[in-house]
Amino acid sequence: MFDGLRGAIPADHYWCDDVLATELERVFTPSWLLAGFTDDLQNHQDFITLQIGRHSIVVQNFKGQLKAFRNVCSHRFSRLQTESCGNRRLQCPYHGWLYDADGIPRGIPDNDAAFSLGEADRAALALKPYRLETCGRYVFVCMADDPPPLRDFLGRVYDDLDYFSAACPDRISQTSVELEVNWKVGFENAAEGYHVSVIHKDSLGLTLGDDLGIDFIADHSVYYRGLTDDTRAWWRRMARIVKLEPGERFPDSTNHILFPHTVGLATCGVSIVLQTYEPITATRFRCNTSYWLADGPPGAARDAVAQSLRDLSTRIMAEDAGVCLGVQAGMREAGHARVLLGRPENRIAHFQQAYARHMEAA
Ligand code: FES
Ligand SMILES: [Fe+2]
Repeated sequence: MFDGLRGAIPADHYWCDDVLATELERVFTPSWLLAGFTDDLQNHQDFITLQIGRHSIVVQNFKGQLKAFRNVCSHRFSRLQTESCGNRRLQCPYHGWLYDADGIPRGIPDNDAAFSLGEADRAALALKPYRLETCGRYVFVCMADDPPPLRDFLGRVYDDLDYFSAACPDRISQTSVELEVNWKVGFENAAEGYHVSVIHKDSLGLTLGDDLGIDFIADHSVYYRGLTDDTRAWWRRMARIVKLEPGERFPDSTNHILFPHTVGLATCGVSIVLQTYEPITATRFRCNTSYWLADGPPGAARDAVAQSLRDLSTRIMAEDAGVCLGVQAGMREAGHARVLLGRPENRIAHFQQAYARHMEAA
């Protein structure tokens, strides 16, 4: 009975470098990963980059067509794009090789004198392409050679994301913070509400009401939770004042966990907060957070709502960061032991089982 509550991931998986190498190969490479948003890729030569451990991926707009490549030059392996986003040709900053939409180096300075590369040579030097699909404004990439379609990978969650993309199209801000913690510590913290009444008792805890259920969808899960009467009334008042147009679905609070590293927190159909937990090293991750609101006219009232959302979120993240650092320190001492997961932590158990299946795959 007791052992049935043990998680599927041993403690050393939260700090061991070898484990991160295996995770990159078996968890991240075969999965579709949220890379960013079409909002940042509207124009020719707009680009975004995504960093997952040692892997860097560039997504680039070529005359309206979005392409994803390994962000490594074919010449002497420099990074091609070095910023997280921008507008710039896909050109290596080292010796200036310029790549086209097929990842083929078209502009090679002094090619005749230096290399004499012909058409076939250039084609053989094409960048490694990655699969790319969009769901609404959300851009996903996959490093596997032959992944399932994004819709199959996400299952029913695909329709939820498509809905949120349309219902909350206005990004009011975006942040990236790094923490000296394994990515799974942060991600698992976001996957359970058991800690809310302790860590967030004076912040998030004041807004949440009854549990309304959980859906497990393939390796993903969705948690539905009611809001307190006060919170619902506040949102209704705000929606009226700033003329937000709330979507019909998801009237309460929902928490989507997308395997392996994305969380979506939606409130009242008028806001969604999206987070990705990107591993940097075995003991450091980057949390990218973006805040999205339903459409409505601009103005001071809307700005005030946006600011209060950001303030609450910043406070919640600071509260979580403190406990995550404590967990990371404890994991170091726990050897191969596995954590205990109670019923309110069953979404972590679900994630850990999916993770373990991937890690065991040959
Ligand atoms: S390393 Fe990219 S052009 Fe030389
Ligand atoms: Fe939390």
